[in-house]
Amino acid sequence: MKILTIGGGGREHAIINAFSRSPKADKLYAAPGNGGISAIAECYPEIKATDIEAVVDLAKKLNPDYVFVAPDDPLVMGMVDRLNEAGFKTFGPKANAAILEGSKVFSKGLMKKYGIPTANYEAFTDPDKAVAYIKEKNSYPTVIKCDGLALGKGVIIAENEEQAVNAIKSMLLDGKFGKSGSEIVIEEYLTGPEVTVLAFTDGKTVKPMISSMDHKRAYDGDKGLNTGGMGTIAPNPLYTEEKQKECMEKIFLPTVRAMEKEGRPFKGCLYFGLMLTPRGAKVIEYNCRFGDPEAQVVLPLLQTDLVDIMEAVWEERLEDLEVKWSDESCACVVMASGGYPERYETGKEISGLDEKGQHKGVYVYHAGTKLGGNAAEKRAVYLTSGGRVLGITATDQTLQGALDKAYGAVKEISFEKAHYRMDIGKRALNEGQ
Ligand code: AMP
Ligand code: GLY
Repeated sequence: MKILTIGGGGREHAIINAFSRSPKADKLYAAPGNGGISAIAECYPEIKATDIEAVVDLAKKLNPDYVFVAPDDPLVMGMVDRLNEAGFKTFGPKANAAILEGSKVFSKGLMKKYGIPTANYEAFTDPDKAVAYIKEKNSYPTVIKCDGLALGKGVIIAENEEQAVNAIKSMLLDGKFGKSGSEIVIEEYLTGPEVTVLAFTDGKTVKPMISSMDHKRAYDGDKGLNTGGMGTIAPNPLYTEEKQKECMEKIFLPTVRAMEKEGRPFKGCLYFGLMLTPRGAKVIEYNCRFGDPEAQVVLPLLQTDLVDIMEAVWEERLEDLEVKWSDESCACVVMASGGYPERYETGKEISGLDEKGQHKGVYVYHAGTKLGGNAAEKRAVYLTSGGRVLGITATDQTLQGALDKAYGAVKEISFEKAHYRMDIGKRALNEGQ
């Protein structure tokens, strides 16, 4: 089988690595891919993950059995629809289902309509009405979100009226987030530990994967700016069996059924960003794809062939497939460029990696790397090319063991101004007893 994966980050490296373990997959392609991915798949670095025309043309040239569309933007833009029209089988939702991530106003409306637990909210396009609303509520912190995609930066937690008014103005008046911020959601502030649950769904059946915990802030102790994610662990020890039952009954099944009822069947990986509040589990956000770096800790624990799952989702027979998981733990520590998520430099040589971009005892998922040309030396040189650079990932019988292995390797891998958090998994270890 030939499989083309769209995207070029650590998540895509984890997905392609899972495919590489399948006896069914004999040719793997990636567009654009990255330095590390090029060790296991043929990459097309000149093709952008958001360029629908170029991806359809590439698919026509390669004629893959499946195209796996991994990132949010192309899914929301309708890449799957276009690939299907051109006759290709795909993994990932069509645009009318990807809207679950593409529009907070849509997803909040869906949850309200179907009684799926989430923070109370109101949606606004008029800045005066939004300001009048927060003044009347006068309750802080309050959460202000852009309707559309904003690279994870469209959520502002305002501690007081001044911050709330500024956030509303930046979105609705100054157009800081472009079209994504032309409508906003103002919602109630929730508290409690966060859990990510990814789930396979074919539009009817939903099979949750192993739970995980992301660490979104840039610095230790959850300080600094929000990032795409600085590290993950799986399973999340705070997500007990009781919580699993509650979420299946009140959140996962109702969401999949609601989408089917709305004529928007969701086929692919549905991401549930949950908060375990004192009043039950609530949805913080839906994403229409695997999380990054959640995929990096969840997929290594998957024992069922990912190709079998992809086929079952496409053919809508997920109900009949048993999806098996290892009972080990997995940890991923992200090594980022100094300065990320703000300004950072690239092009730094990475030391501590072998020819294939790997390191003994761990799996190194490449997020922002490229191969540097060094023909004279005849050895592969990996250079940094993004904010998040590597995800050092290890599995073990225990979470502590997985973290020890990952951090052991992190110390042996370096590049100029590398930055990583020292406390990945700490909260899970402390609170998860
Ligand atoms: P989102 O992009 O919607 O996941 O929001 C980013 C982060 O903001 C989440 O991971 C939470 O930590 C935080 N957040 C979002 N919504 C709320 C809320 N209603 N209450 C408290 N924190 C929130
Ligand atoms: N790690 C968070 C996300 O993928 O949205």
